[in-house]
Amino acid sequence: MKNYDQLIDSALAELESCENLDLLEKVRVKFFGKNGEVTSVLKNLSNLSDAEKKEIGRKINSFKETFFQNLEKKKNAIEHILIKEELQKEQIDISLPARENEKSDSKIHPITHTINEIVSILGNMGLNYEEGPDIENDFYNFTALNIPENHPAREMHDTFYIENNSEKLVLRTHTSPVQIRNLQKKEFPLRIFAPGRTYRCDSDITHTPMFHQVEGLVVDYSVTFANLKWFLEKFCKTFFDNEKLKLRFRPSYFPFTEPSAEVDINCSITSGKITLGEGDKWMEILGCGMVHPNVLKMSGVDDNKLKGFAFGMGIERLSMLKYGMPDLRDFYDSNINWLSHYGFSFLETTDLSWR
Ligand code: PHE
Repeated sequence: MKNYDQLIDSALAELESCENLDLLEKVRVKFFGKNGEVTSVLKNLSNLSDAEKKEIGRKINSFKETFFQNLEKKKNAIEHILIKEELQKEQIDISLPARENEKSDSKIHPITHTINEIVSILGNMGLNYEEGPDIENDFYNFTALNIPENHPAREMHDTFYIENNSEKLVLRTHTSPVQIRNLQKKEFPLRIFAPGRTYRCDSDITHTPMFHQVEGLVVDYSVTFANLKWFLEKFCKTFFDNEKLKLRFRPSYFPFTEPSAEVDINCSITSGKITLGEGDKWMEILGCGMVHPNVLKMSGVDDNKLKGFAFGMGIERLSMLKYGMPDLRDFYDSNINWLSHYGFSFLETTDLSWR
């Protein structure tokens, strides 16, 4: 019996001391390969008595299970280290001076420009600028927005989760958590907007894993859906610099607003060219609604006295519609030709408040 115990101990010890995947494979072959040490014990089992067969068989089987479990753990640990090393190697030396650019006319990225425009319009419409963290906890991103655990709406968000022991952290899937952070301040009337980065595990012609939204929230003692309609109409006409623009409010669903609507603007499409403010086609541009009473309640706000409207829009989408970029992914490719074509010069004003 003793030499079996020794065999088991030495196999486990050798496994533990492996420092790379090749060695791990060698140890596996040494013990469990075709001519491996454990394999040959099993082959010779038939020479033993029934009682011995039973006992040793049981022992070896349970050892086999432990061995392969440990092997898997060891493999994961080694791979983890390899990935870490790889990431370390890929670090970029940011102290390197910039290369002289043959196109020296620097441009402002269209997203920065569009955000500046939105800040100017919403600021002038009486909303205050707010920000929230990109890394949110589950409560602000979901629960407090009336999206409890196991709610199907969570699946619509393709969330990036962050490994963390103490609390559930996510990369915010929308800017709506900023609503909660400001409701909790309990200072009314509350009139805020919050542009910023948002993240979803999604990538195609109209989706990038990181994108931007701007959130709006107005809470006061007498806020109505009519106020929301007026507000968004004014915003859209100013942003697109088009008084003829028509808005269509389509009934929709968001867990944190009731009633909820998606807003479309009218346009015509001729040979692929979109013209806004004319024609009878519709383009979806944002989501909105009246703040759900549960959201107010969960932030400790008296939903009998206070009402609110909220809206959220995708900034890339607004930018593409206004400036005509065909593919969302180009925004983040850092292609200098694209940037010099679609970028803005420093002299182009973003102050649209005079319009
Ligand atoms: N958070 C929603 C989304 O990301 C948009 C939205 C914001 C809808 C506010 C209604 C009110 O799709």
